[in-house]
Amino acid sequence: MWLLCLLFLTVFCQNQAQNQAVLSHSMDSGGRCHYTFTVASPEESSCSGSSTNPQTDAVLSRLTVLEDLVGRLMADRGNSEENLQEAYSQVTRERNQLQQDKERLSKQVQELQRTLAVLSQEAETLRRRPCQQTQTSGEFQHKNRPADPADDSRNGAYQEMKAEVTVVPASHLIPEGNHNITGCGELLSVGDPVLHRKADSITGKYGVWLQDPEPQGPLYTNKTVWRVDAVGKDVRQIFVYEDMDQFSRGFPMKVLVLPEPLESTGATLYRGSLYYQRRRSRTLIRYDLASESVASRRDLPQAGFHGQHPYSWGGYTDIDLAADEQGLWAIYSTSKAKGAIVISHLDPMSLEVRKSWETKIRKKTVANAFMACGRLYTVGSYMATNTTINYMFDTASGEGRATSVPFKNKYGYNSMVDYNHAQRKLYAWDNFHMVTYDVRLGRVSRGSS
Ligand SMILES: *[C@@H]1O[C@H](CO)[C@@H](O)[C@H](O)[C@H]1NC(C)=O
Ligand SMILES: *[C@@H]1O[C@H](CO)[C@@H](O)[C@H](O)[C@H]1NC(C)=O
Ligand SMILES: *[C@@H]1O[C@H](CO)[C@@H](O)[C@H](O)[C@H]1NC(C)=O
Repeated sequence: MWLLCLLFLTVFCQNQAQNQAVLSHSMDSGGRCHYTFTVASPEESSCSGSSTNPQTDAVLSRLTVLEDLVGRLMADRGNSEENLQEAYSQVTRERNQLQQDKERLSKQVQELQRTLAVLSQEAETLRRRPCQQTQTSGEFQHKNRPADPADDSRNGAYQEMKAEVTVVPASHLIPEGNHNITGCGELLSVGDPVLHRKADSITGKYGVWLQDPEPQGPLYTNKTVWRVDAVGKDVRQIFVYEDMDQFSRGFPMKVLVLPEPLESTGATLYRGSLYYQRRRSRTLIRYDLASESVASRRDLPQAGFHGQHPYSWGGYTDIDLAADEQGLWAIYSTSKAKGAIVISHLDPMSLEVRKSWETKIRKKTVANAFMACGRLYTVGSYMATNTTINYMFDTASGEGRATSVPFKNKYGYNSMVDYNHAQRKLYAWDNFHMVTYDVRLGRVSRGSS
């Protein structure tokens, strides 16, 4: 019981730095945990009657200046035309500034209301769940993920991959030709993460952010950036940014609202559509971004969902969609495959499965996966600063093998990794941080030994 309480406390104390959200808890005589959230924001004036808000004060003092100016204007009525002009334009500037301040403040209020809504939801979830002992393994359990009673991964006939990792010496890595940029190949290396944006509210702990590798224009281009905060139960908002610069500054140009909620961090963007898994179902949805409507929907046959076959990160990451040079893919598992990763090549229009492959790597043992050049790659850990891309499965040959390409989780909680073939980068969402990694593809020479 205390383990669980301590865990929640840790998670929220971590968030406190970003959100000024404070969680306190106490046990009542009935043995139930009570959680209380407090959101203290220096920018929220409507919470209490007090007005010790520096921004409100700033607006008030500007108003005083404005009044003063108007007073002077009245008094100086006899003064020259020039003075009048100057005073007038100053008043105009002040008015515009006030207008901007007002807009900014109401945006902040909206943001705070959103945060409050999410916190209330999380509180509700916690309240409904009895305080019970979780398993005592040292493994971190995701807070939204119930303990899986069907977890059979620790015992049984399954061979995990970690024992047979072979290290490929650097001298055997041959970049394809003389920089064949368009050429596909195997993953040679992944660069250090480059930070583009840090989320500023609790809803940004994990999510999906992407650029379309094959945009259909003219409305949205290869510059457009898309972001979905995936914390919460009713995830529908897609933030659209004009370009990476606006994204980094946090200024969306538009917010689209999905007609049906999305689950987890497996969504992807491809040819002008957002592809995602509908909440609590194995239904895949193609949402056309230009017309802002559902263009097609289809169940992914036998796919596990909502905690049946997630990645080790948890978070209902059962169905992961991916796009690469060869099209659209789904990475998931089925009960027939007993938790092993299944890859399906999908028709991007109808979402029908064209062909499927069953791999020998258990989905729960890896942190994430992505497709590049028709090959699946899995990430070993979502927490370890230094981990590896530890397995590769080639759909062309139907063969898989262990790999050992270094990969960094700089911020310690990587919830999404997707490959973008136009940019030749991995996009990831690591503990509030939206990052990209450069990748090098080429031919791996394995000699004759
Ligand atoms: C580059 O790679 C592509 C795809 O593998 C191939 O079709 C093309 O011929 C290559 N170009 C050169 C110059 O090697
Ligand atoms: C976007 O597309 C244009 C035109 O196709 C191309 O010139 C440009 O390099 C692309 N930019 C990026 C960032 O991919
Ligand atoms: C990760 O690897 C780098 C070298 O690549 C090393 O400097 C660093 O100390 C390692 N960090 C941890 C936590 O092992």
